Amino acid sequence: MMNFHIAVIPGDGIGPEIMDQALLVLKEIGSIYHHEFRFSEVMMGGCAIDKKGEALPQEDLTICLKSDAVLLGAVGGEKWDHLPGDQRPERGLLRLRKELGSYANIRPAVLYKELKDACPLKSEIIGEGIDLCVVRELTGGIYFGEKGRRRGTMGEQAYDIEIYSETEIESIARTAFEVARKRNKKVTSIDKANVLESSRLWRSVMEKVAGEYDDVVLNHMYIDNAAMQLIKNPSQFDVIVTTNMFGDILSDEASMITGSIGILPSASLGEGKIGIYEPIHGSAPDIAGLDLANPIGMILSAAMMLRYSFDLESEAKSIENAVVNILGKNIRTRDIMGEGMHLVGTKEMGKLIADELR
Ligand code: NAD
Ligand code: IPM
Ligand code: MN
Repeated sequence: MMNFHIAVIPGDGIGPEIMDQALLVLKEIGSIYHHEFRFSEVMMGGCAIDKKGEALPQEDLTICLKSDAVLLGAVGGEKWDHLPGDQRPERGLLRLRKELGSYANIRPAVLYKELKDACPLKSEIIGEGIDLCVVRELTGGIYFGEKGRRRGTMGEQAYDIEIYSETEIESIARTAFEVARKRNKKVTSIDKANVLESSRLWRSVMEKVAGEYDDVVLNHMYIDNAAMQLIKNPSQFDVIVTTNMFGDILSDEASMITGSIGILPSASLGEGKIGIYEPIHGSAPDIAGLDLANPIGMILSAAMMLRYSFDLESEAKSIENAVVNILGKNIRTRDIMGEGMHLVGTKEMGKLIADELR
């Protein structure tokens, strides 16, 4: 029997609701395949601020650092929006990513044929289908550059510096080329090199690293064009590699063309370090506590954890198959609901996916 220790961060808003469903699925996997998953609950986000006075208390970070992998729901909400930047729930998440060295955020976006009706694009645009993967740099760029406020001649000023170093770009470039090698061998690097100095360095390092990967094709695109191309012709993309902020924005856009933000999972990885697995969406305060959230992004994130952190490919695949089977039976949460479909809530969706594993 294999034993895995998972740090579980339900977080805020819909976080706890969708996490319950992922844990249900993992427990089922444990019993079918005879693995022992040990779960340690970690407090992070607004709930940690309320209970312990900070977004990521040291003792909670320590549990993550001692775990084999971290599973995360979502953090944040209006209740904490008035706090200064360094005390917000989101800062806990940024610190966790930095402390774990999780610089590569892998966000696959696949349009399942079962969800074609949930895609807002016309079928002639969908063409051969959508199956792309955003590789987003996660521990650098404008999120982590110097920031501050000062008095200027035009009143108060605020700044956030976009800064990348060669080694950071090399690392994320290698991740993107490795991911592309296992896919359709095409990398599109997205930047704003016509304006930003940091993007010009980004582009030149991408070119340099591409030299090590003769079997992969690299092309470049400006972010504004990329945002448009994703809607105009999404099937041109295989792997998208981009900066922290551009990746944040483009992956939400990519999620919608595959049906809903509620279904996209992600893995945040570093060199041999502990991975963080979380859906790409946030805490969705508008639907929290209503049993309306789609738990699929969370459940597929658990599948990514089995694959990348524990090397349990068949177990990961069986979760992914269960999700597709349930969609194939026309079962939908509200965000992907369509005509003639059977509407279920968060809990029911989780239970049906867990039952489908047997
Ligand atoms: P959001 O992703 O929480 O919600 C955007 C919209 O998508 C909402 O209408 C929401 O109801 C819907 N949605 C999101 N997830 C869904 C799901 N699983 N099923 C069905 N519908 C879903 O983004 P937001 O509203 O901009 O942010 C809300 C809070 O979440 C903010 O505090 C933000 O900082 C935080 N946030 C956290 C994370 C994270 O923890 N990783 C990610 C993004 C945003
Ligand atoms: C995400 C979120 C986070 C980000 C926020 C909450 C810090 O939007 O995971 O996509 O911008 O990375
Ligand atoms: Mn985001």
